[in-house]
Amino acid sequence: ASILMVAGEGLPFIKTGGLADVIGSLPKALTDQGHEVKVVMPLYKKIAEKYMDDLYFDCEYSVSIAYHEVPVRVYSKMEGDVCFFFIQHQGYFERDTLYGYDDDGERFAYFQKAVIEMLNQLNYWPNIIHCHDWHTGMIPCMVKETHDNDARYRSIRFVYTIHNLAYQGNFGPEMLDSCLGLPYYLLDNGNVRFDGGISFMKSGILYSDKVTTVSPTYAQEILTPQYGEHLEAILNMRKYDLWGIVNGIDIDLWNPKTDPEIPYHFDKVNMDKQKKANKLALQRELGLEENPDVLLVGCVSRLTWQKGFYLLMEQLDALCAAPIQIAILGSGENQIENKFRELENGNKGKICFYYGYNESLAHRIYAASDLFLMPSLFEPCGISQLCSMRYGTLPLVRETGGLKDTVNPYNEYDKSGNGFSFENYNSNELINTLYYAIDVFYNRKDDWKMLQTNALNTDVSWANSAKTYSLLYDELMSNS
Ligand code: ADP
Ligand code: GLC
Repeated sequence: ASILMVAGEGLPFIKTGGLADVIGSLPKALTDQGHEVKVVMPLYKKIAEKYMDDLYFDCEYSVSIAYHEVPVRVYSKMEGDVCFFFIQHQGYFERDTLYGYDDDGERFAYFQKAVIEMLNQLNYWPNIIHCHDWHTGMIPCMVKETHDNDARYRSIRFVYTIHNLAYQGNFGPEMLDSCLGLPYYLLDNGNVRFDGGISFMKSGILYSDKVTTVSPTYAQEILTPQYGEHLEAILNMRKYDLWGIVNGIDIDLWNPKTDPEIPYHFDKVNMDKQKKANKLALQRELGLEENPDVLLVGCVSRLTWQKGFYLLMEQLDALCAAPIQIAILGSGENQIENKFRELENGNKGKICFYYGYNESLAHRIYAASDLFLMPSLFEPCGISQLCSMRYGTLPLVRETGGLKDTVNPYNEYDKSGNGFSFENYNSNELINTLYYAIDVFYNRKDDWKMLQTNALNTDVSWANSAKTYSLLYDELMSNS
């Protein structure tokens, strides 16, 4: 099929989280399955700064936003076999960060309108538009409600992937007419209404032909009030069209044999020795006490409530008393950042908190650590645990969403597993599981080795999931 993916971010151009990993790798995997995939995203400041000279200018036109005609310029660049389009508007997108502005509703209304008109301008008519997360949730609705008399638009099928239901793109009702150009009866009949305003996420779920999310367990969880973020009723209406397809990662980008960001490359055979060498190098880089034999716990994360850090906070004494080192890379909520700063100050040489976003360092933490901590409250899929397994680092996770689907907990009786996990969002369970892992690391070295080898052998590629997406696209095409 010919597929246009629409997303708020994507590698190698720009990344704030796992969505960018997916957009940077799934299109390639689908191309290998014989599909023609293109991607479109906003031209953010960082992309403009780095790539402007390499971009091809495709076309310019305007779309109506807040009763003004606002200019659009479209650029593109090939990345392997995948064409990436960029929607340029300096005022909306050339800012320091990607999201989180008061006018996000207007910015992404503009983006989505620009994408819809881009098809017409380029005379490019994909079979399927695959939208990702709230930034793109209005596209199926806008196409179906306002372009229904145009056969070229009418023939397009829509897939909507929920990467995180917690971010919904909910805005005031005035947005409907002024920015999106949609009639008010959509508010009255409930199609886009949410909590008195409108919801991009809800609209994406209702108007798409198929809805997917990024793991089978999360697909089940979001049908319940505990995880449904007040959209569980809507999701239940669509549950026969809701697929849970687990993410993969780009195994060329994340490859312990060739990764240019890590000092010592490794495979199964020399993993033990080389991971220790990586550990020593990282300890030196981060100012941790240099000791290849101590258990190093890594953590690379957005520091938000989602990721389970508040559980950790309940157990700081037990954490500090444990015979481990901890390397944390991340930024986010002030409360978590401050706690980690305090923790580092009181435990120099044992705990390091590296504030910020640093892709290169992330690779070295995945490669050097023994254990990777991810006790999430909820986790639609999770990319980090996949990266850590790819480097023979055992994830310690809570059994939720994609973490449950990708990590097999250690079973000391039948000697299986590729990590550690606990079930309930309870800090005693977390700390007990950590102490259990510590015991295995120091006292059952053969089992630890077995777990590491299993982690390294785990298939974290897109191979299987790309086939499932293919089936989904085929099903849509055969119904059209
Ligand atoms: P989420 O998308 O919810 O943040 P994921 O586990 O799906 O969580 O994806 C996170 C991605 O972002 C991983 O590739 C991880 O390595 C990366 N990442 C998160 N925080 C940082 C950071 N501070 N520096 C570098 N990379 C980070
Ligand atoms: C979201 C989720 C994360 C998932 C990622 C990519 O950011 O929080 O669990 O891995 O999207 O699908």
